[in-house]
Amino acid sequence: MEGARVQEILSGLLAQNPSISPKYFYDGLGSRLFEIITLLDEYYPTRTEGAIMSQYSAEIAKAIGKCDVLLDLGAGNCQKGSALFDSLMPVEYRALDISKEFLEEAIAGLQSKFPHILMTAQEFDLQNPLSFPELATRKKTFFYPGSSIGNFDPKAASNLFHNLAKVCDGAGGLLIGVDLIKPLDILNKAYNDSLGITAAFNKNVLLNINRILSSNFQLDCWEHYAIFNEELGCIQMYLRATKDQRVTWQGGERLFKASELIHTENSYKYTQQHFESLLISAGFKSTQSWTDPRNQFLVTYASFA
Ligand code: AVJ
Repeated sequence: MEGARVQEILSGLLAQNPSISPKYFYDGLGSRLFEIITLLDEYYPTRTEGAIMSQYSAEIAKAIGKCDVLLDLGAGNCQKGSALFDSLMPVEYRALDISKEFLEEAIAGLQSKFPHILMTAQEFDLQNPLSFPELATRKKTFFYPGSSIGNFDPKAASNLFHNLAKVCDGAGGLLIGVDLIKPLDILNKAYNDSLGITAAFNKNVLLNINRILSSNFQLDCWEHYAIFNEELGCIQMYLRATKDQRVTWQGGERLFKASELIHTENSYKYTQQHFESLLISAGFKSTQSWTDPRNQFLVTYASFA
């Protein structure tokens, strides 16, 4: 497991176009930096999604119907998942995240407020196959908020939807939030905030990598670079070398030239039409969507029934 993770990171760093998976953003500090990003004026997705969810909570609950098991993909601090408890009243809440650290704390806090809901935390990397044999006969409602789906390209997103369809086996569905295509200045500002929090969040990935690889990336030799790629329809984040440098780790090294880029994240944006058609072609039977007055963000319930 540990070796596989190191191998994955090294193959990214040694590739002709070097990259680091965005999942490595979320160490303790990175998770907190992301929480701060969600508070920034420029970063509209989180608050817009929250407003849609609360304005339409009754309609959303009606679309979902009886909620047996609520599976929260990328639950983090479980704030968004638990905000659904009053309207959905799930029998069971399963919080999944790449890091279990946050989850257990969050669940412990929630359990006392909602003693009748069975809550479990599970460490889970969405890159791995989805399988919940112990929930085979239960109706499952998946929750994937925050435009986390934006980290997948449309083909990979469609694969994930197909897999969810298989796991759900004709019942339940997916409540998902996704960021919408909008004027470039708004998109670019959301990933180039004036306080530099997104820059810190991006650079922090190198501290995490240094810890995992015992490598020696120097943060003052890298700068944040984020731009909307109109052809692909995604924000792309990179770290750009400010000078020629050699980075070493146990058993290897790489030379980086000044201006060389390490790709750290794609964040895809959709039109409502494109997103809904992606869900339907992946096997969902129907979709119902809600948006904000400025059409900045989309919440969709895709049903298997
Ligand atoms: C958590 C993947 C939805 O793409 O907007 C925020 C991560 N990156 N600022 C996003 C992120 C830079 C975020 N997601």
